[in-house]
Amino acid sequence: MGVFVLNHSLVKHKLTNIRKKDTSTKDFYQNVSEIAGLMAYEISKDFPTHDIVIETPICKSKQPELDCEVVIVPILRAGLGMVDGIRNLIPTAKVGFIGLYRDEETLEPHKYFCKLPNTIKNGICLVVDPMLATGGSAIAAIDVLKEEGAKDIRFVGLVGAPEGVSALEKAHPDIRIYLASLDEKLNENGYIVPGLGDCGDRLFGTK
Ligand code: PRP
Ligand code: URA
Repeated sequence: MGVFVLNHSLVKHKLTNIRKKDTSTKDFYQNVSEIAGLMAYEISKDFPTHDIVIETPICKSKQPELDCEVVIVPILRAGLGMVDGIRNLIPTAKVGFIGLYRDEETLEPHKYFCKLPNTIKNGICLVVDPMLATGGSAIAAIDVLKEEGAKDIRFVGLVGAPEGVSALEKAHPDIRIYLASLDEKLNENGYIVPGLGDCGDRLFGTK
């Protein structure tokens, strides 16, 4: 379905903030959250609406309201950093969780948690994870969602590597991939270059 890299000066500016190695945990979290909100604003521009009749102070009027369930599915841990920014814009969104960690040697994802709302079956599922490196975690999370009956799935990440984008497109050609930046490559340890380091650790102050 394609890869969409958001071309937005504010997003680029905030991304630069989180790439800096000396950015504090607090500022890192805040910028990740704000970028996620800006991305949600852009991504949701074609969400379906239907008209309802309301009364303004002046008259009755037909006006649009959102006509879809939205489910945000963060991949733990780092995906959690994107949830608040999206919920601020779409407060009716439900939140499901998929816990995956990447084995540091093999880079293979391992699932350790899953809790999803029923609305994934008919809703728009936004799988959120700041980092798309080898693509293994995103592919595994989307495998889970499809097994559970989700049909409309979109991946929302901050920084992607070409390797991860190709792997995700190959494994799940039916989903849209939204990124704030498509970076150069993966290094020999599976980290994105130039990237921003270990996103989970930087968000939560571990290490
Ligand atoms: C990071 C990141 C992604 C994954 C990306 O998580 O948040 O989930 O790596 O790498 P991949 O595309 O090669 O799978 P990590 O496994 O470090 O767990 P954490 O979020 O708990 O730190
Ligand atoms: N996970 C991260 O947190 N950062 C990377 O660069 C790659 C995977």
